[in-house]
Amino acid sequence: MTIWQPSLAARRGPKFRQIADAIGESVASGQLARGARLPPQRDLAHALGVSLNTVTRAYADATARGFVAGEVGRGTYVRAPGPLPSPTPPASLARPASGPIDFSLNLPACGPAAERLSETLLALSGTEGLAGFLDHQSAGAAPRHAAAGAAWLARLGLEAGAEDIVLTTGAQQGLLVALMATTRPGDVVLTEALTYAPFKAMAHHLGLKLLPLADEAGELTPAVLEAALGRVSAKLLYCLPTLQTPTATTMDAERRAALAGIARKHDLVVIEDDVFGFLPPERPPPLACFAPERTIYVTSVSKSLAPGLRVGYLLAPPARGHALRSAVSLSSWMPPPLMAEIAGRWIEDGTAEALNGFQRQEAAARQALARALIPEQLMQADSHGFHLWLRLPAGWTADLFRLEAQERGVKLVGGGAFAVDPAVSPNAVRLCLSHESSRERVRRGLEIVASLLGSDGPKGAMVL
Ligand SMILES: Cc1ncc(COP(=O)(O)O)c(C=O)c1O
Repeated sequence: MTIWQPSLAARRGPKFRQIADAIGESVASGQLARGARLPPQRDLAHALGVSLNTVTRAYADATARGFVAGEVGRGTYVRAPGPLPSPTPPASLARPASGPIDFSLNLPACGPAAERLSETLLALSGTEGLAGFLDHQSAGAAPRHAAAGAAWLARLGLEAGAEDIVLTTGAQQGLLVALMATTRPGDVVLTEALTYAPFKAMAHHLGLKLLPLADEAGELTPAVLEAALGRVSAKLLYCLPTLQTPTATTMDAERRAALAGIARKHDLVVIEDDVFGFLPPERPPPLACFAPERTIYVTSVSKSLAPGLRVGYLLAPPARGHALRSAVSLSSWMPPPLMAEIAGRWIEDGTAEALNGFQRQEAAARQALARALIPEQLMQADSHGFHLWLRLPAGWTADLFRLEAQERGVKLVGGGAFAVDPAVSPNAVRLCLSHESSRERVRRGLEIVASLLGSDGPKGAMVL
């Protein structure tokens, strides 16, 4: 019996891909009819003079591309035409074009990343050594992935060798392992008075005491830090010097240098959260440049490339490397190697630069919309940032404003969510502009917020 057998003579690339391409072409031309069974893998391998493994990969590739479908024990058949079902994104990552406008999530805009992912996955599927990405990598990050991290940090103004980079499963794990590696229950950790809410939860779970620091303007200043260290014995300072969450402020170089000097004087470890550091085209050097011997610098690709990649890079004094790597192992063994590979390739081939450019452009355009619609005196924002801090006029509380906005179809976060001291309730809300699916929806949401600000105050507020 003659079997279907493609000619591979004029084809290039890996053998398995040549066979899968030939299957696709034969299906398209009708030479392989719908429902036809492909030859048993062993027979085709023999006929083509290739290994069984190559044919197995070719059939898997043809299956993934939708030409054929396999049934265990029955063989591989030409599929009925029609698109493959598309993957369903998790609800929080879906960016609906209708329904409530969501300003509550500080996530990047949906850009060309998905298209790039498709190209990268295709390229990856044709490479050798894929099995390595499925294997355990407890010995530490692949040197190429760490080198990509170092290249990434160089773009952010930090000199580092690949051997100094600790890969994490996002900045979230970066913060957690930094705390695990440097503190014990009962330690005092200094923070900005309003800060990244999950950091508060992490500290709580680890039994740490958070001490919020702020001057009258609500800022972390050298004077406030010095005064606090005169009163308490603290181990660590956590701060966001660039595009702070939630206040959107960026510390100048002078303040960074002064804080670093005080940290040195009091032997304080600093955790610098720089997840938004890629956004401003120019900004002062990271705090880590002023106190490299004591700073654990934390960043990730979540805001600049895609939050679902779950890849973060951490830079710390060499003496802390072991403890940090142990904490990564303890909490997740390793970030998924396939994801580290995708992020690494994007950094190496310029995709990351292009995706960063898209985020910068989108952030600037959306901030411009806010400047046009929201009264300037109420808004604390950076023209390069994803979020803005909205101080509310008299008559509003953050909770009432949030509820009223929600009633009108806009989700945002009340200032209390960021307060380290639960007794403090700032009369302000945070609006994140980048997560929404389009500038048009951002404009509509901002118009609703502006109309609320211009109203006489909360409608449902009844004070006895
Ligand atoms: C200020 C800040 N730090 C850290 C993180 C954690 O980022 P990742 O997604 O990389 O874990 C976030 C994410 O929302 C953030 O906003």
